[in-house]
Amino acid sequence: MVTRVSILGATGSIGASTLELMRAGDGRYQVGALAARRDVKRLAALAREFRAELAVVAEAECYGALKEALAGSGIEAAAGREGLLAAAEAPADVVVAGITGAAGLEPTLASIQPKRRIALANKESLVCAGRLFMRKAAEANATVLPADSEHNAVFQAMTAGPREAVERITLTASGGPFRTFPKERIARVTPEEALRHPTWSMGAKISIDSATLMNKGLELIEAHHLFGIPSARLGVLVHPQSIVHALVTYQDGAVIAGLSVPDMRIPLAHCLAWPERIGWQPPRLDLAALGSLTFEDPDPGRFPALALARQALEAGGAAPTVLNAANEVAVEAFLGRRIGFMGIPALVERVLARAELQSIAEPATVNDALAVDHTARMMATNLLLEFAVKAS
Ligand SMILES: NC(=O)c1ccc[n+]([C@@H]2O[C@H](COP(=O)([O-])OP(=O)(O)OC[C@H]3O[C@@H](n4cnc5c(N)ncnc54)[C@H](OP(=O)(O)O)[C@@H]3O)[C@@H](O)[C@H]2O)c1
Repeated sequence: MVTRVSILGATGSIGASTLELMRAGDGRYQVGALAARRDVKRLAALAREFRAELAVVAEAECYGALKEALAGSGIEAAAGREGLLAAAEAPADVVVAGITGAAGLEPTLASIQPKRRIALANKESLVCAGRLFMRKAAEANATVLPADSEHNAVFQAMTAGPREAVERITLTASGGPFRTFPKERIARVTPEEALRHPTWSMGAKISIDSATLMNKGLELIEAHHLFGIPSARLGVLVHPQSIVHALVTYQDGAVIAGLSVPDMRIPLAHCLAWPERIGWQPPRLDLAALGSLTFEDPDPGRFPALALARQALEAGGAAPTVLNAANEVAVEAFLGRRIGFMGIPALVERVLARAELQSIAEPATVNDALAVDHTARMMATNLLLEFAVKAS
């Protein structure tokens, strides 16, 4: 049976890994819709190669270029918010949600359709509107398959026993490129250094989040929504080799761990084939060659972002939505060299402190979530000016 797959964020790192698996799938997979923000050249090439039915650019001004690049192919072109929603809703068995950031929320939510599988890489959807997202998926009888390697490992380990018997979920973190750096050195790191992840090859935003450990914080919130486990029973362990992705501890003392080489095609292959398994030529794990695996606790002094995310998770309501928005503004400012690396958690902390979180309800609709996201971004952007003035 042919599986039809649509990819939101087709031109990114998750998109590339998914399409590579589909190439190796020997006709087992067919592309439905492909969407990106503005990389027309790559999107059009992929749409032609995979004979997509629909190709969409989020930026409306790119529509003309896309239409031209697809001329004569018979592939439908669309753009803007409506186009993205059309891509999300287009007929597909699996939608790979691989857009970066809160920009992925609305299309990813729209991709939830009856009986569909959502291969969820866009963790920000769960951070911004987790309860809404999971409720919508349950109502539609859609299956949310975590593409994030840690959550994918948890998803698989959770089949070893009933959910009520799960005592603890532990996510591992590589520790990022600055794991061993002293605090004073971390304060001076450049975007180029922060983008150089030691074990994973990923897009810019998640690479910076991995360097601050905010990524692990976002993943705690993601795990909370995916698996219904409270913060107190969610742990983080730094594991520089990125071989053990997560551990599920059962009440009888058994610990089930998910291991693989750090390669996103492995969790994505699970999502594409679920509930079956596909045979492809994955890089194999060779534990003897590795020799040893090491683990350590995260250091909250050098990596304060993790505690901020946990604070937002425990505060509940709209706090995670605010955290995510402030972080996105901060990461962009760091990449644009407008703030230093430690300015990222500092800005997020200031926004969380300033937002009157008690008076902002948890987003019940996508518009609620987008409104909170917008307000928090404005707040972060205004504070950024203060940061920049102080820095000069
Ligand atoms: N990469 C990984 O290994 C990995 C692992 C786990 C989870 N994730 C999660 O997966 C998501 C994607 O990460 P990535 O590393 O693949 O990012 P990436 O390489 O930067 O790719 C992002 C993709 O999203 C598209 N995009 C960005 N903004 C958009 C917008 N406003 N509207 C529509 N499309 C937009 C980009 O299009 P253009 O190319 O046109 O800009 C690109 O196709 C993130 O949420 C990340 O946390 C990634």
